[in-house]
Amino acid sequence: MILLEKATHPITGDVFVPGDKSISHRSIMFGALAEGTTEITGFLQSADCLSTIECFKKLGILIDHSIRPTNGVPTITVHGKGLHGLKASDSTLYTGNSGTTTRLMSGILAAQPFDSLITGDMSIEKRPMNRIIKPLSMMGADISSVLGNDCAPLSIKGGKKLRGITYRNPIASAQVKSCILLAGLYADGETVVYEPALSRNHSEIMLASFGADVHNEVARDGSAAAILHPGMPLHGNKINVPGDISSAAYFIAAALIVPGSELLIRNVGINNTRCGILTVLKQMGADITLLNINESGEPRADILVKYSELHSNQNNKFEIGGKDIPTMIDELPMVAILAATGNFDTIIKDAAELKVKESDRIATVVENLTAMGCDIEATDDGMIIHGGKPLHGADIHTHNDHRLAMSFAIAALAAEGTTRIMDDACVGISYPTFFKELQNLL
Ligand code: S3P
Repeated sequence: MILLEKATHPITGDVFVPGDKSISHRSIMFGALAEGTTEITGFLQSADCLSTIECFKKLGILIDHSIRPTNGVPTITVHGKGLHGLKASDSTLYTGNSGTTTRLMSGILAAQPFDSLITGDMSIEKRPMNRIIKPLSMMGADISSVLGNDCAPLSIKGGKKLRGITYRNPIASAQVKSCILLAGLYADGETVVYEPALSRNHSEIMLASFGADVHNEVARDGSAAAILHPGMPLHGNKINVPGDISSAAYFIAAALIVPGSELLIRNVGINNTRCGILTVLKQMGADITLLNINESGEPRADILVKYSELHSNQNNKFEIGGKDIPTMIDELPMVAILAATGNFDTIIKDAAELKVKESDRIATVVENLTAMGCDIEATDDGMIIHGGKPLHGADIHTHNDHRLAMSFAIAALAAEGTTRIMDDACVGISYPTFFKELQNLL
């Protein structure tokens, strides 16, 4: 349990946040499927990404951690075996809390000559998998939910010849898109995934950098397409993972919430499919400046944030929805808390996906913000936050959801009295040193 008090002085200085979780997962997976070695720097050493490493080790891939003798930089080397080099695991592949590992790996496993069984922790075993079972089955894969409840454990039978499909996903989901594209690497013919809005495109960017023929397009009806042609081998690569904007979000919020603060967060990924939080907070009047922008590959920048009084954009109301939602899906708990500190109403809509994350984030955000004194209501596809009521300390139940633990640790900095983060160990899923870094700034 972690105890936190209202911040008594400004937050200043500069911080680095750990590597991007989505990009770290992909660097291991694509490195495993490439011919030759892939060297990864900036890799996120957190429970989720370590689950991906363990799974690929079980599939016969050698993965080393070392310190580069030339410059002392920690490096992960993946000794890839090519698209057809994986071997059967002799036990169940365990993905821990990681939806990305579970869903992306299923796309790869569906195309292998061997059978696999894949599952994760209690949260993973409750998350919907029909969203990948359906398109993979359309491709000719044999994948099923062992308990028949559309959830993991998933049984994937090998030796199936896959065919490319055109799939219209009704939701924007990078995990589903990436799962289909990975299966598409092994399929006959083109694979196209349409989504109502472009979800994070790290798979497309990284697969292309490994040599795959894949790109994004805007379709005539405005939907987003990812198009992959199979047949190109993947080649070993060098990946430098930028800092995770989802982790930076907590420090951005801390600086915005605590009067007088000014914080520089260095080397953060600013891929425009991920940085909706910056756009929306700027519309709310946040003083955020990007410095040292580097656009090559995955774009990155330093983010300078100064304390700001947030405001609405019309009639004391601020609406967040539509195509912005996928670009800030993991940051919505933090944004809801920031909204609670503003003197206006915020409506978060088109975000029903929040219900099927590591926890039901509509329910868990509403539960904990209510406990802190906020006037907030859950809706079917989001929440309405009536901001401006002073927050007070409370017992925060994270439901083992790392993003809840970190978001409410920041809320505590604006709340009168003591806040207790009851089950704090879950931050290890994406940011093991979070509380240490936060404490250093307080
Ligand atoms: C992720 C995609 C998102 C996100 C998750 C990571 C990824 O999930 O919420 O934390 O790495 O592809 P969905 O694809 O379910 O939206």
